[in-house]
Parts: sequence; C-alpha cells; structure tokens
Amino acid sequence: MTKKIDKIRQLVKAKFEEKDWKYHIVPVLKYAKKLARIYRADEELVELAALLHDIGRVDIKHDEDHHIVGILEAEKILKKFNYPEKIIKEVKHVVESHRTSQGPKPKTLVAKIIANADAMAHFDILPVFFWWRKSRKEYSFEDTLQWVENKLKNDWKKKITLPKAKKMVEKKYKAIRLILDSLKNYEKDYNPPTASSHFSLRSK
Ligand SMILES: [Fe+2]
Ligand SMILES: [Fe+2]
Repeated sequence: MTKKIDKIRQLVKAKFEEKDWKYHIVPVLKYAKKLARIYRADEELVELAALLHDIGRVDIKHDEDHHIVGILEAEKILKKFNYPEKIIKEVKHVVESHRTSQGPKPKTLVAKIIANADAMAHFDILPVFFWWRKSRKEYSFEDTLQWVENKLKNDWKKKITLPKAKKMVEKKYKAIRLILDSLKNYEKDYNPPTASSHFSLRSK
C-alpha cells in the first residue's frame, strides 16, 4: 500500500511547476533529510514540512505572502490525509516561519531545519538562481548579479544558523563568493584599453 507521505509527495509535485519542484523543492528535501538525521528529528515530519513549506507559492501571485497563504493550504492537505493535530500544528509553524525575514522566527527544531535547508538549497543551483531572477521582470544583468549576491549573503549570514548546516555548505559558499567577487571586481576595475595603454602594455 502506498504510504501517506508518498501520496503527498506526488500531490505536491503535481502542484508545482517542474522547474520549481526540480530546482527548489528537491534540493530543500535533500538538505532537510540530511539535517533531520544529524539532529535526530522526526524524518517523516521533516519530509512533510519540506514538501509543504512553499505550498503557498504554487501560484506566483502569492509570492510575497506565501508564508501566510501556505498555512491554510498545508492544513487542508494534512487534514485530507488525516494527520493528527500535533503534526498539523508543527507543519503550519514551519510554513509561517520558514522565510525568517518575514513571519515569526522558527521556534522548533523542524522549523529551524527547514529554514536552514531552504537557504542551503540555493547553493546547489547558482545558474538557475540567475535565470529565475532575470526571467521574472526586466532587471539588468548588474541588478540580477547584485540581487543574487545579496540573497546568498543573507542566506549564509542569517538563514543558515545550525552549525552542522553551515559546515555542510561552507565550501560551496566560499566557491560561489570567489566566482561572484571575481566577476564584480572585473566589472569594477575594467576600463576599455586606449590605444596608448595598448601600446604601453605591449612595449613592456
Ligand atoms: Fe518560501
Ligand atoms: Fe523555499
């Protein structure tokens, strides 16, 4: 018999656009499960929470308040599958607190795990991140670059709070910083060479 969690996984997968499922929910699931094992959290509860944390933004018009819209959506799904009130309450807190910049701060271990995994997921998909930002509105490349940098800096400094989570993505964050900083410095320092600078360079 298919387990409840498998049915919810299928249901959530069907609700999301393929790219959001593949490049956000799947990486969040990956890190959330790793953290659940390390911090000895209830693995099924963590998986449920990871699946449902962004359920409020399956419709892009709720992007800004998806942590609020998602509370009711998550509740509806969990009630449909007869989850106990205690689990529903836990997952609802994850949804309302997962952004950390808005809504209450994550109070439970599961909520902390999801907020951390939500940010860690970004470090796996850097090129997608650029594409996402650029495809929404008419941002210049420089604006997009700045936005991605700020977002990842905020993830690293404010969202990734669990010590083991920080250790897990430290190398990746440093590598990303190296790439972004080298690009930024290049843009800042770059001056088109003049004929005389060409000459002076060659003459050395
Ligand atoms: Fe979210
Ligand atoms: Fe998310």
